[in-house]
Amino acid sequence: MHEVNGLNERAMTIRLDAVLPEHPEFVSGIRRAPDRGWTLSRKETELALRNALRYVPEELHEMLAPEFLEELRTRGRIYAYRYRPAGRIWGKPIDAYEGKCLAGKAFQVMIDNNLDFEVALYPYELVTYGETGQVCQNWLQYRLIKKYLEQLTEDTTLVLESGHPLGLFKSHPEAPRVILTNGLFVGLFDSQAEWHRAMQLGVSNYGQMTAGGWMYIGPQGIVHGTYNTLLNAARQRLGVGPKENLAGILFVSSGLGGMSGAQPKAIEIAGGVGIVAEVDASRIETRHSQGWVSRVAESCEEAFALADEALAKRVPLSIAYHGNIVDLLQYAADHGVTIPLLSDQTSCHAPYDGGYCPVGLTFEERTDMLHRDPQEFRRRVDETLRRHYELIKVLTGRGTYFFDYGNSFMRAVFDAGVKEICRNGENTYEGFVWPSYVEDIMGPVLFDYGYGPFRWVCLSGNPEDLRRTDRAAMECIDPDRRAQDYDNWVWIRDAEKNRLVVGTQARILYQDAEGRTKIALKFNEMVRNGEIGPVMLGRDHHDVSGTDSPYRETSNIKDGSNICADMAVQCFAGNAARGMTLCALHNGGGVGIGKAINGGFGMLLDGSERADRILRSAMMWDVLGGVARRAWARCEHAEEVGREVNAKYEGSYHITLPYHVAEELVARAVEGIEER
Ligand SMILES: NC(=O)c1ccc[n+]([C@@H]2O[C@H](COP(=O)([O-])OP(=O)(O)OC[C@H]3O[C@@H](n4cnc5c(N)ncnc54)[C@H](O)[C@@H]3O)[C@@H](O)[C@H]2O)c1
Repeated sequence: MHEVNGLNERAMTIRLDAVLPEHPEFVSGIRRAPDRGWTLSRKETELALRNALRYVPEELHEMLAPEFLEELRTRGRIYAYRYRPAGRIWGKPIDAYEGKCLAGKAFQVMIDNNLDFEVALYPYELVTYGETGQVCQNWLQYRLIKKYLEQLTEDTTLVLESGHPLGLFKSHPEAPRVILTNGLFVGLFDSQAEWHRAMQLGVSNYGQMTAGGWMYIGPQGIVHGTYNTLLNAARQRLGVGPKENLAGILFVSSGLGGMSGAQPKAIEIAGGVGIVAEVDASRIETRHSQGWVSRVAESCEEAFALADEALAKRVPLSIAYHGNIVDLLQYAADHGVTIPLLSDQTSCHAPYDGGYCPVGLTFEERTDMLHRDPQEFRRRVDETLRRHYELIKVLTGRGTYFFDYGNSFMRAVFDAGVKEICRNGENTYEGFVWPSYVEDIMGPVLFDYGYGPFRWVCLSGNPEDLRRTDRAAMECIDPDRRAQDYDNWVWIRDAEKNRLVVGTQARILYQDAEGRTKIALKFNEMVRNGEIGPVMLGRDHHDVSGTDSPYRETSNIKDGSNICADMAVQCFAGNAARGMTLCALHNGGGVGIGKAINGGFGMLLDGSERADRILRSAMMWDVLGGVARRAWARCEHAEEVGREVNAKYEGSYHITLPYHVAEELVARAVEGIEER
């Protein structure tokens, strides 16, 4: 054993030192992840220890083994807290980092931004957002990744598997500098339960969408998507014109948490009035103090009175109602309040784990019951969900447009025993009676055209660079082309004024294939001319091509292929082949292990001609792959874009388009076949 260790240590020049770091102090007031639950057998626990200790020289094992075991038993996994660098971690200006190439330094900025106290949900546990979405599994990996990034060259590629840096491998300057995957499993084992075991063993990481791909840019990422969703919902259902905003329109929803907290900000930016119910006073306080919600109401009367006043004046206003969404909707139903737009963003992907608060309980009582009597808690969640459903039925019967905002609300109602929420009254194969936001809005109005959450980070950390890129991006958009372009143009025009930056100097801007390419090339030219420092481009995986997720991103795919994951894998492979600087492929982003496959990229703009070459093909591919798949699935607007692309880019792009069969012909063909 000693002999092998000695040999291996001599064989590695990139490794963790034999010096034991000081145990860190935990700053009070920083949110900590809950215990994830240690469920391993004794043998598996031995394996987990062996797995963690293989990162550190043997002379430290005696000391670290009991410490790691304690973490596993009390926190449900080994984070190796001792290896967290002391003090604040944040995305510093790129020049503050060491490295042999710009990409090596750039990714250190991105990683550190994802672990910033200001940005991350549970920074000590390396969780950026989405309850469990981690940058990597533990601080041993964090340190080693940094060492690798410092040694990365333009002739090598760093490969990571679920946060573990497998090593540097010879490649070439036009190859990706980093290829990473997170939480992928062989089909038979592709479940939350297997992931839970693998994560305790230290062999799998849940990267959510952008946490494990180091591309999270704080809450502004979700604000733009919510803004687009609300505007387009109103256009589709309320007759709001292409260049009009939501003045005089009321939106009601729930949740002021990590992502749901974007709702009040988005409704105000869109010019409307919003009431968002939230049971947890501390979250209201956080959002209020950040300026993300303007007013706080302690009663339904007060909330609707404030809303009425703003609606009458047609001025934007966001209101937090401290209480349960079901109480708020009951009030609206009893008092004949008109709610044109209604949604929900409680954490219904995990209602029995505390994501959904039963009516009649305060937030504190809910927390207490969750631990004391989980059975009773479950019963009350189901009861509330059923009541919630009935209230939405009443309101939609009076003209309210309700949509599910990707939180599995309708699935939760179904699980609570309401079969009639399914279109076929039996199971979920044909979807639910109300649409999800992707099915009705984001899919047809944005993704099918290629519009998705393009973003960038100014690596200099200089706000002036962001200002310049905002202006340059705005000049690349023709606001008169489509209503979507106008919305995006307004978004970027007002972005600075709306004070959206948290963490690094970053921006999100929904764009289509051509828009993304044009802006990317413009930015690279600006870097080349010395007008701005280097820029990292990326996107949320919640996009046109990057994600196969049947209840969300691909919920408007109706040819039966919504359960297939070919598109996301092809997107990843195509980006790697074209030389995107970082290519990521994840399991379960947004919805949980086994329910989605999703991938993203990072593209470093260093001003080079090489970057231009890569951008010209990769930015188009990254979007058009998904547009082509959506066109083949008979999504109308994707077919429209497909026809345009085939005409405009003859010789470079050619998309296969479907023939449409007459419905009567199909009906005639199957005549006589019995229903099964
Ligand atoms: N569509 C998307 O793009 C998208 C993006 C992010 C998140 N989501 C989904 O939205 C949900 C919310 O995400 P999050 O990050 O904000 O979660 P979160 O848990 O941080 O926030 C949810 C909030 O809802 C509150 N809440 C729970 N039950 C309530 C009730 N009955 N009445 C009033 N308030 C209640 C909670 O106190 C909590 O603050 C998740 O299911 C997530 O998966 C969708």
